[in-house]
Amino acid sequence: MESKDNCNSKPKDEDEKIIKDNNENKILIDNNDNKEDIKNNIKKEEQNNNNKKEKEKENNIEEEVYEEGHYPKKEYEYVHDFEWNETFEKEAQEIINSNPDNVESLEEFMDIQSKNWEKFYKFNKTNFFKDRHYILEEFNELKEDKREKITLLDMGCGVGNSFYPLLYRLPNLYVNAFDFSKRAVNMAKTHPIYEKEKHRINLYDLDLVKDDIPNKNNDYGILMFVLSAIKPEEHEKVIEKISKVIDKGGILYFRDYARYDMAQLRFASRKKNKVGENLYMRKDKTLSFFFDKNEIEKLFIKYGFSIVNSNLICRLIENRKENKKMHRLWLQIKFKKE
Ligand SMILES: C[S@@+](CC[C@H](N)C(=O)[O-])C[C@H]1O[C@@H](n2cnc3c(N)ncnc32)[C@H](O)[C@@H]1O
Repeated sequence: MESKDNCNSKPKDEDEKIIKDNNENKILIDNNDNKEDIKNNIKKEEQNNNNKKEKEKENNIEEEVYEEGHYPKKEYEYVHDFEWNETFEKEAQEIINSNPDNVESLEEFMDIQSKNWEKFYKFNKTNFFKDRHYILEEFNELKEDKREKITLLDMGCGVGNSFYPLLYRLPNLYVNAFDFSKRAVNMAKTHPIYEKEKHRINLYDLDLVKDDIPNKNNDYGILMFVLSAIKPEEHEKVIEKISKVIDKGGILYFRDYARYDMAQLRFASRKKNKVGENLYMRKDKTLSFFFDKNEIEKLFIKYGFSIVNSNLICRLIENRKENKKMHRLWLQIKFKKE
């Protein structure tokens, strides 16, 4: 005999049907509902999710890597330099101080930093970062160096956006470049000029924190938005390591995020990304540290470098369509190995 419960419940296939959404997820519906309405709602929902994802992607790009020569400027954006002053600094410090105790545990994420960058390159293809064509304008020592063969070490080279524009223009340049993401290194090898120029390119995967750098004698070095991806406790060790592989008289070109950059203030105001003082973790679990100019200069000086020039770059990006202002701050420092 059937139980009371079973008698009262309706047979499944009479009143309920399974349909599938576009992602082949099974959805249980009631026969009394209008199937078309439900399908339309699912479509709308998917559309909304896609829009949301696009928007998030856009925001992330703005937040993480929007910098001069690095991200295509939109026609409704207006970019110009601005003077950093005490009022800005006070306001920025207040925002940063407003999330002092929200430090998340960092340790569990540290060992998987290379994996997180692997994932980053899985989802963001070679065209995520743009070739840094401006680099040669800043790097006049390289341009003027007419020796038969000069060597450059690009540390944390990613897919090669910094060294390829230099290789194009300087026939006497030989590049040693590494990144701890194997995927990035392989992507760098797909660059249109790699095959033709590979006798001038030594590309390999290496962890700047854990491994020794095999190429000892380099005339030039590049550290471009890499140290910010490494936790500050390791910076000294990394800089000491670098000092051993740049020749006396060699130039190291450093460019990275500066303290109070808009990205830092955005992290701080969200109150959930902080993993250390001036250190934040992005949604993709990669790190972003914001440098104080004096502190980073002192560290390089401690390991045998002098300063050729050092600039805090302050750029205001006005998005006139959305009436938004973004104050971006970077450090650009040229060090000489004494
Ligand atoms: C923001 S990207 C910059 C890439 C490149 N320097 C450029 O300017 O286009 C940071 C890069 O640093 C690499 N990286 C982070 N930590 C590293 C480490 N410990 N050793 C080697 N590479 C590292 C990442 O894989 C990533 O490619």
